Amino acid sequence: MMRTHTYGELSAANIGQQVRLAGWVNRRREHGEHLAFLDIRDHTGLTQCVVDNSVDVRAEFVVAVTGTVTARVEGTVNTDISTGEIELQDCTIEILSAAEPPPFPIDERADKVDEMVRLKYRYLDLRRERMQRNLRIRSKVNAAIRAAMAGQDFVEVETPMLMPSTPEGAREFLVPSRQKPGSFYALPQSPQLFKQLLMVGGLDRYYQIARCLRDEDLRADRQYEFMQLDMEMSFVEVDDVLSAAEVGVLDAAEAVTGVRPNEVPRITWHDAMERFGTDKPDLRFGMELIELTGVFANTGFKAFSSANSIKGIKVDGGALRYGRNKLDGLTDEAKSMGAKGLVWLKVVTSEEENSQKLAFQSPVAKFLSEDETAAIISAMQASEGDLILIVADEWTTTCEVLGELRNRIGRPPVHDGPYHYLWVVDFPLFVGVDPATGRPRPGHHAFCHPHPEDLDKLESDPMSVRAWAYDLVLNGWELGSGSIRIHDPVLQRRVFSLLGIDDEEADRRFGFFLEPFKFGAPPHGGFAYGIDRLTAILAGESNIREIIAFPKPSSGIDPMTSSPSEVEASQLDELGIRVLPQAE
Ligand code: AMO
Ligand code: AMP
Repeated sequence: MMRTHTYGELSAANIGQQVRLAGWVNRRREHGEHLAFLDIRDHTGLTQCVVDNSVDVRAEFVVAVTGTVTARVEGTVNTDISTGEIELQDCTIEILSAAEPPPFPIDERADKVDEMVRLKYRYLDLRRERMQRNLRIRSKVNAAIRAAMAGQDFVEVETPMLMPSTPEGAREFLVPSRQKPGSFYALPQSPQLFKQLLMVGGLDRYYQIARCLRDEDLRADRQYEFMQLDMEMSFVEVDDVLSAAEVGVLDAAEAVTGVRPNEVPRITWHDAMERFGTDKPDLRFGMELIELTGVFANTGFKAFSSANSIKGIKVDGGALRYGRNKLDGLTDEAKSMGAKGLVWLKVVTSEEENSQKLAFQSPVAKFLSEDETAAIISAMQASEGDLILIVADEWTTTCEVLGELRNRIGRPPVHDGPYHYLWVVDFPLFVGVDPATGRPRPGHHAFCHPHPEDLDKLESDPMSVRAWAYDLVLNGWELGSGSIRIHDPVLQRRVFSLLGIDDEEADRRFGFFLEPFKFGAPPHGGFAYGIDRLTAILAGESNIREIIAFPKPSSGIDPMTSSPSEVEASQLDELGIRVLPQAE
């Protein structure tokens, strides 16, 4: 037998038994003239083994150890590890595999090693407790989600990885066709089109733990390849989708943390923007945006007199913490986000004699009337020592700039719980205008169902139309998105024509997708959330690379496999591809 136990299984209960274990040498220490201590490790833990010091093993050798479980002598018990009360005595060691010295220590010290080195030797990095833990959390998340979906009668269906190029949003990865040189498959950005066709196909409830591929700039929460829990349901309304989607997320959270999250609250997109200045509010801290437009209705302060939205945030006790340099920095940040400026006001006690009144210390204070000062203090519920930041602009800019400042000033690190899940519903159907065409741009994608209450405004006031579209947010991260889809070809044509897509173009670009809806499509809707993002937050990691076995660094170039790499000329010939010389 290769092993009788794992290291983590051993305890004082095994004292006296002869056991055989296998694993990696974690550390070697010489002891006296004849003995050495070896800490030997497997995926469950480690145990100290006392061996004859003539054995020639070093860190990361793979060995099998036969020895007797013995109580450690008093004073040498290690309460930090579960096997700290025992050790293996009289050990014989069999070397299963020798090891060169590893390029970095296989423990928490590797956290400080250059990430490219960790990724080049990812298989060594994975031996570490942190990575072992993260990948096991990920596996728990997947298992809980699968059980939750199967338990609700969702049918798991795989959809193709090779599909036509479709304008879904992100840049696609293309795969050249050998059979048809000059033609390409695209790798799926998501199974969106296929899952809707599954609804037309009568599957009723579909899910898939789906690999999605997008050629985007990589960031802490973005990889080229990532996993979605993707789902779609027929004959449903928004509530049905949210309730069904929630189960998997909450079950996964419970499986990892041991705590069942509360029911997930809902907020409309409009309220999220008004109160938090973002469509992904982090509810772990307050500092909400406060409406001040009315306060300045008749203001003499030029910067504010023509603005149609004025709001402020309050940094509790911020007056002392924010000196001139920091405030100039915040102003520059606000400007780089598109604001015309930033007013800061430090709340102080008025210097006028016999006065207990609060006043502002700020270069702008002299432009504010006494009434305005009092109204700001009251609206912001400010007290001495607070710092108030105000932006005046178009509604969107005011909200977004203050929302971003709120996050920069107040947002705790990822691993600082608690967990606050939030549904953001009623996203706008369109956001902004495409400068090239002058047409509105779809908020999510062109297939989202407009909110039925707003249908009559579709042509007359499209920018005010809400969509039956929703996002799930966790601690300021967008976990997932979805919508009720358009299943009526006539409504779809109305939306396309607002986007400037006529029937001919619609047929050319989305023909294979639109045709099926002529044959009887059920009303349907769905959702998809990022498993990488959910796992990262549950594992307390701020970068999804830490919960992916083999991720790409931000350059996209994998230091372990050196991909992407050049291929043989004959392979290119077969595909009819000629590589142009790169410009210097
Ligand atoms: P969306 O494009 O919003 O929706 O994607 C859903 C979720 O997938 C995750 N995600 C990513 N995770 C890691 N790296 C990336 N590059 C990346 N891109 C997205 C996010 C995101 O919230 N088909 C629609 C869903 C639907 O309408 O049903 C879709 O893909 O967590
Ligand atoms: P100005 O009148 O441009 O000299 O600005 C006076 C102060 O008001 C400066 O601190 C600016 O940063 C600030 N400010 C100007 N415009 C705005 C605005 N739209 N919103 C918030 N602060 C502004």
